[in-house]
Amino acid sequence: MKFYVLTIFPELMETLLRSSILGRAEKNGFLDFHVLNIRDYSTDRHKKTDDYPYGGGAGMVMTAQPVYDAYEAARKEIGGPVRTIYLTPAAKVFTQKDAKAYAKEEALILLCGHYEGVDQRVLDEIVTDEISIGDYVLTGGEPAAWVLIDAISRMVPGVLTNETSGEQESLEGGLLEYPQYTRPELWRDHRVPEILLSGDHAKVDAWRRDQAILKTKAVRPELLAEAELTTKERARFLSEPPSHDA
Ligand code: ADE
Repeated sequence: MKFYVLTIFPELMETLLRSSILGRAEKNGFLDFHVLNIRDYSTDRHKKTDDYPYGGGAGMVMTAQPVYDAYEAARKEIGGPVRTIYLTPAAKVFTQKDAKAYAKEEALILLCGHYEGVDQRVLDEIVTDEISIGDYVLTGGEPAAWVLIDAISRMVPGVLTNETSGEQESLEGGLLEYPQYTRPELWRDHRVPEILLSGDHAKVDAWRRDQAILKTKAVRPELLAEAELTTKERARFLSEPPSHDA
């Protein structure tokens, strides 16, 4: 899968993308990162990429020209149609479902905004998807682009070496992850839950499933409405006092 990142901080993005699991996956040919420096595409003699906002107000706005030309360069390399994501806090919040869906694309372009925003005309022209990573405001789109690329990449076949680990985890089936333990069995008076030492895989699975539901109920109860629970599980964990007007 190919990622094209349009940014005014290319060195930062290169470092983030070429480290750790993503870096290894790129070396092994499963991912392909292209970081385009928006400044390189500026036709201004000082390579300017921002200007004062029409109508006044604080801060600067990224100009349309260099963003559009960087986008065009990426699009030409990709060839066919491509989803172009603009990272902004003024958008729907990214979820694991989105990560899985985007992982099916052959290529994506991500546009990192800065200052007080980007000239709306170029956004109207190139952006297909607007995405926020949460209800808080960052100084720029780069951390958000990295979050998206990381979450999407690990859903691309081949990127995680243990092929199943992308599936059996937090938020799969809409539940948070169950707790994990490793050696030693006894650490500072704390024992590993006995059931994990039993060797009974069915029991271990059932225990983990219960833990995942309990954790979700405790910290993110709103997720349970959408979670894939059996009728039995719903009765066990979601039992509310019976309603009288039924
Ligand atoms: N740019 C600034 N804040 C952001 C956020 N929360 N998500 C995505 N892009 C952003």
